[in-house]
Amino acid sequence: MASYYLILLVLLVASAVVEANANKLSPDFYSSKCPKLFPIVKKGVKKAIRNETRIGASLLRLHFHDCFVNGCDASILLDDTSSFIGEKTAAPNNNSVRGFEVIDKIKSKVEKACPGVVSCADILALAARDSVVYLGGPAWEVGLGRRDSTTASRSAANTSIPAPSLNLSALISNFANHGLSVKDLVALSGSHTIGLARCTSFRPHIYNDSNIDASFAKSLQSKCPRSGNDNVLAPLDLQTPTHFDNLYFKNLLNSKGLLHSDQELFNGSSTDSLVKKYATDNAAFFKDFAKGMVKMSNIKPLTGSKGQIRINCRKVN
Ligand code: HEM
Ligand SMILES: *[C@@H]1O[C@H](CO)[C@@H](O)[C@H](O)[C@H]1NC(C)=O
Ligand SMILES: *[C@@H]1O[C@H](CO)[C@@H](O)[C@H](O)[C@H]1NC(C)=O
Ligand SMILES: *[C@@H]1O[C@H](CO)[C@@H](O)[C@H](O)[C@H]1NC(C)=O
Ligand SMILES: *[C@@H]1O[C@H](CO)[C@@H](O)[C@H](O)[C@H]1NC(C)=O
Ligand SMILES: *[C@@H]1O[C@H](CO)[C@@H](O)[C@H](O)[C@H]1NC(C)=O
Ligand SMILES: *[C@@H]1O[C@H](CO)[C@@H](O)[C@H](O)[C@H]1NC(C)=O
Repeated sequence: MASYYLILLVLLVASAVVEANANKLSPDFYSSKCPKLFPIVKKGVKKAIRNETRIGASLLRLHFHDCFVNGCDASILLDDTSSFIGEKTAAPNNNSVRGFEVIDKIKSKVEKACPGVVSCADILALAARDSVVYLGGPAWEVGLGRRDSTTASRSAANTSIPAPSLNLSALISNFANHGLSVKDLVALSGSHTIGLARCTSFRPHIYNDSNIDASFAKSLQSKCPRSGNDNVLAPLDLQTPTHFDNLYFKNLLNSKGLLHSDQELFNGSSTDSLVKKYATDNAAFFKDFAKGMVKMSNIKPLTGSKGQIRINCRKVN
């Protein structure tokens, strides 16, 4: 009788372990089901960046905006239709997020190699990592096994993605809502070492804030007037916008952050010391950035039999 209960207990524990593993992402999730996945994504990212350097930044941001809205489930990739409103036209995304064609191209190559196997959410997570690496940043291991959502939420996108108007305490609580720490906030904001922002995003900072270098503000004002030219672009890192490095943090020390939210990280408060550390210690920045990316990439994935593997990333099967 005792051995009967023992066997039952072992079975229960074993099934709990299987269950837990099914919900956990794993780097070798596709190693037998789609062995060519890594080289296909890497090649697709490289080709896209060689065509247009900015696209690496855009792919990184696309993954961020996917993960911050109900988890990393490729919900951001769904197109609006006459009967469905998705995230692409939400306030933080409309006329701003880009890179969808690159994901489409990679997905169609992946579908040819291993049909119906790899999720769009996983392709996006890999493309973000490969972009950072190609532009000179750190590498990290991407856990895989995410599945794709069958829905998207414009209202969640409106409210969950942090706005550049936020102050430090609001940024900290936004990240905390996603299970990310203050250190993750500062390290991941280092993404702004690459890419561009629109006049409409940095206008309030260059006209209304006092914590900005005067000549830097003046030169930005000359291309971004008080009204109009909303879509004129400026680099988030004025020094090396196509290279992934720690100059973003050095800019903050000199009051040359482009967005209000950037300069909030270095304005006499609790995060000043981390900004100083990353500005002087590139290795520390790379290490914490990679850790933060792994955490962000793990936000609420759909696993097991939840969601689906979309065939076309833009629409539900
Ligand atoms: C801390 C809060 C954050 C705020 C308030 C913020 C805000 C913004 C804004 C307003 C833009 C410019 C968009 C435009 O004008 O079209 C931008 C660009 C960008 N953001 Fe963030 N962001 C934040 C964190 C992050 C994180 C965590 C990542 C990545 C992990 C990221 C990656 C990027 C990249 C790479 C770009 C440039 C995209 C491109 O050139 O296409 N940002 N961000
Ligand atoms: C190359 O980049 C341009 C934008 O600079 C884009 O319009 C075009 O679709 C890209 N072409 C390829 C093949 O990626
Ligand atoms: C998105 O941008 C387009 C083009 O500027 C605009 O016509 C449309 O109204 C915007 N959509 C939303 C939901 O704001
Ligand atoms: C989201 O923001 C857009 C653009 O500001 C607005 O048009 C729309 O009504 C908002 N939608 C929801 C569901 O919150
Ligand atoms: C930050 O912004 C929030 C929300 O707008 C506001 O309630 C709070 O008082 C602000 N905090 C500081 C320190 O300015
Ligand atoms: C600056 O602040 C004032 C007062 O809050 C506001 O009316 C104005 O729209 C802001 N200007 C910009 C460019 O954000
Ligand atoms: C930055 O800090 C200064 C000094 O504490 C303060 O006066 C200012 O309002 C802050 N600026 C912003 C944009 O938070």
